[in-house]
Amino acid sequence: MAIIIEGKKLAQKIRENLKVECDKLKAEGIQPKLAVIMVGDNPASKIYIKNKSKACDQVGIKYEEYLLSESTSQKELLGLIGKLNKDETVNGILLQSPIPSHLNINQAFKKITYLKDVDGFTPSSVGKLAIGEDTFISCTPHGIIKMFDEYGISLNGKHVVIIGRSNIVGKPLLQCCLNRNATVTICHSKTKDLKKHTQNAEILISAVGKPKFVTKDMVKPGAVVIDVGMNRDENGKLVGDVDFENVEPIASYITPVPGGVGPMTIAMLMYNVIKATKLQKANNEEF
Ligand code: GUN
Repeated sequence: MAIIIEGKKLAQKIRENLKVECDKLKAEGIQPKLAVIMVGDNPASKIYIKNKSKACDQVGIKYEEYLLSESTSQKELLGLIGKLNKDETVNGILLQSPIPSHLNINQAFKKITYLKDVDGFTPSSVGKLAIGEDTFISCTPHGIIKMFDEYGISLNGKHVVIIGRSNIVGKPLLQCCLNRNATVTICHSKTKDLKKHTQNAEILISAVGKPKFVTKDMVKPGAVVIDVGMNRDENGKLVGDVDFENVEPIASYITPVPGGVGPMTIAMLMYNVIKATKLQKANNEEF
């Protein structure tokens, strides 16, 4: 029987601590604000941004939404980001991914000014993370690291296997684990004999997006299993990537879906908004 890593509870504790920080900023006359841009109307993204807005309310962060039509041009998108970069009342800018395929998302992320990069997706943040400098860390990897810390799971010298090489999860998670002295293997859709790799994992992290993708035979007994998947099963129920029922009995720790990684991602976004607000404040005081 595995210990269930209760991301939902930990996320609530983090939000409560951040509320104290947010109240302090407000007492100094600073109202932290997050601007969220969504292009088109992806149904999953709508749910994600609703949850982000709820979390902002709980922490005391002002939330502003920019809903752009599917036909928005790259120029219009970059124009909005440029405007928000200059707006001193905006502390964090988040461009919800995915965006329509006629738009260049990397160019759009690049346009976000570093000090407002609450997703940690700009080249400055990605580069700083890669060389182990303090920066904005992509929220899902950061949330996973916080869970390890809370549950006393050390990465030092451990073999971590990540399934998924996205810019949002797999790649920044690789850097986070390397920074904690893990030996890291990244697997992806072209990996040959996936099971051979996953069976060696002391910590197995799946970010694939397919229900029941990780089965019991892929997991080393006693492994820590982290499920980043957010999928709907045939009955429309929210499920992860891991066949929880069969994997849980052989794992040492496991995250549930819902209530695991998802709430932690949003808590770390709130953390980054407060961090951005404080950095901007320090920057203003310097000049
Ligand atoms: N789409 C799925 N996850 C994320 C995330 O963490 N940030 C943004 N901007 N878009 C996403």
